Amino acid sequence: MSDKSAGHNWPEIYRRRRERIRDRIGDGVILWLGNSLQPRNYEGNTYPFRQNSHFLYYAGLSKPELAMLSFPDAGRDILFAESPGIDTVIWNGPGPSNEDLAQDAGIDAVQDPRRLQTHLDLARKQERPIHYLPPYSASSIYRLAALLKTGPEEVKTGVSEILMEEVSKQRSLKSEAEIEQIEKALSVTDRMHRACMAAARPGAREIELSGLIQSIALSRNMQQAFNPIVTVHGEVLHNDSKETVVGDGRLVLNDSGAESPMGYASDITRTFPANGKFTDIQKEIYQIVLRVQLEAIDMAKPGVTYRDVHTAACGIMVDGLKTLGLMRGDAAEAVEAGAHALFFPHGIGHMMGLDVHDMEDLGDIVGYGKKEPRSGQFGLKYLRLSRPLEPGFVLTVEPGIYFIPALIDRWQSERRHEAFINYDRVRDFVTFGGIRIEDNILVTSSGSKVLGPPIPKTIPEVEEACGCSIQPVWPPV
Ligand code: GLY
Repeated sequence: MSDKSAGHNWPEIYRRRRERIRDRIGDGVILWLGNSLQPRNYEGNTYPFRQNSHFLYYAGLSKPELAMLSFPDAGRDILFAESPGIDTVIWNGPGPSNEDLAQDAGIDAVQDPRRLQTHLDLARKQERPIHYLPPYSASSIYRLAALLKTGPEEVKTGVSEILMEEVSKQRSLKSEAEIEQIEKALSVTDRMHRACMAAARPGAREIELSGLIQSIALSRNMQQAFNPIVTVHGEVLHNDSKETVVGDGRLVLNDSGAESPMGYASDITRTFPANGKFTDIQKEIYQIVLRVQLEAIDMAKPGVTYRDVHTAACGIMVDGLKTLGLMRGDAAEAVEAGAHALFFPHGIGHMMGLDVHDMEDLGDIVGYGKKEPRSGQFGLKYLRLSRPLEPGFVLTVEPGIYFIPALIDRWQSERRHEAFINYDRVRDFVTFGGIRIEDNILVTSSGSKVLGPPIPKTIPEVEEACGCSIQPVWPPV
C-alpha cells in the first residue's frame, strides 16, 4: 500500500511502535507474519492481496509472504523477504528492492526468508519464547506450523497472550496520522453515500447501486473496507444478496466504507427512501433511530463504558417504540430482560481502525479486556465493545430498528416478552424492512467527535441528497 499521509515520518513511526512493543514483551522473540496471496480458483489466479493489519501497523509493507522478527533483548528487528528473481520482474515488473522495503519500514536488517527458520530453530533450542498473534487464515496456520515444527492445533493454542494484550493496547489508541487516514477514507465514503442516494430510484437494482459506490472508491485507488451492504432488505443485518429491484416506497440501506490506501477503514450506514421522500411512518421510525444515535454520540466520553452507552441507547429506543405502540412497560426493565432486541438485535458499535472491526482477530481482549465476560443474552452478545472508553479510541455508533419477519414469528409463537412487546401492532410493520444510521467517532479528552465530512443524516438532508443529480466519479477528493 502507498499514498502515506504527507508530513509524517512513517519509517520512524513504525520503528517507534516496534520499540515500544519490544520493551513491553521483554524476552524471547516476536514473530510477525505477513499474509500470503489466496488462490481464487487455481494458484496463479488470486484474490486481491490484503496485508495482515498487524503487519501493516508495525511495518507498513503491503507485499505477500513477508515476515519480521523482533528481538526484545537485542533491541532490533529483521525483515525477511524473497529477492525478486527474473521471472518476477518479467511477470510483475521491477518492484522495490528488499533494502528499499526495509528502509520504508524503518528496519536496518533484511534477510532471505530461509534464515527465518534458522533464527526460530535457535530460539526453540535456547528455550526462548516465540511470541506470535492468533492466525486467522489456513495459509498462516500452516506457515506457522511449518516454521515452529508443530501441528495446526498447537499453533492455535500457542499464541502469546501478552503480545495480544500489548498490541491491543497500542493499536486501540489512534494517532493523529491514523485519524488522517480514516478521514481520508471517509471523504470518499461521503461521495459513495451521496452518489447512492442520488442514483437510487424505483426500478433500480441493488447491484447497480453497489457497483456505483464501489467504482467511486476504486477510481480513487481505494478498496472497500468490507463487503458493502446495499439493500432494500435492511432488516437482514449483513445482507449479501444484491438481486432485488428497488420498489417504490421502499427504504434503501447502504452500509459501506472505503479503505484508505494505507489500509484504514471507514464504516458508514445511511438509510434513505428509494423515491426520495420518506413516508410518515418511515419518518417516525427514522427519527427514533436518529435520536438514539445522536444521544449515544453525546454520551461517548472517556471513562464511560460502551456497555452503558449501549444500555442507555436501548432505553431511548424502547421509549420511542412505546410512542408508536410497538412496546410497552418500563423501559429499563424491558432492556434488562432483552425485549428491545426484537427490534435491535446487535450492539451499538465496535472499534475501528486498520480493520473495520478493529483487531477482532485478537478476540474479546480488545472490546472487553481480561475481566469482563461477554454476555450470552440475545442481542447483547453481539456487543463487540463494552469497556470504558479512552481518548484515542475510534468507534462506530450504529443503532438500528429492524422488523425481521422470522424473528417476529418465532418470538410471537413463544409469547416471548409479551409484557413489553405489542405483537398485534408489530404485525403492521412486518414488511417495513430496517433502518440503521452509523457514524465513526473519535473519543477525545472531553467527549467525542464525529469523523469525516458531514454525510446527509437528518430527514431534510437525506431527502435533499436523494434529489441531487449524480456526482461525477472524478475529480478526486
Ligand atoms: N458495517 C459492517 C459491520 O460492522 O459488520
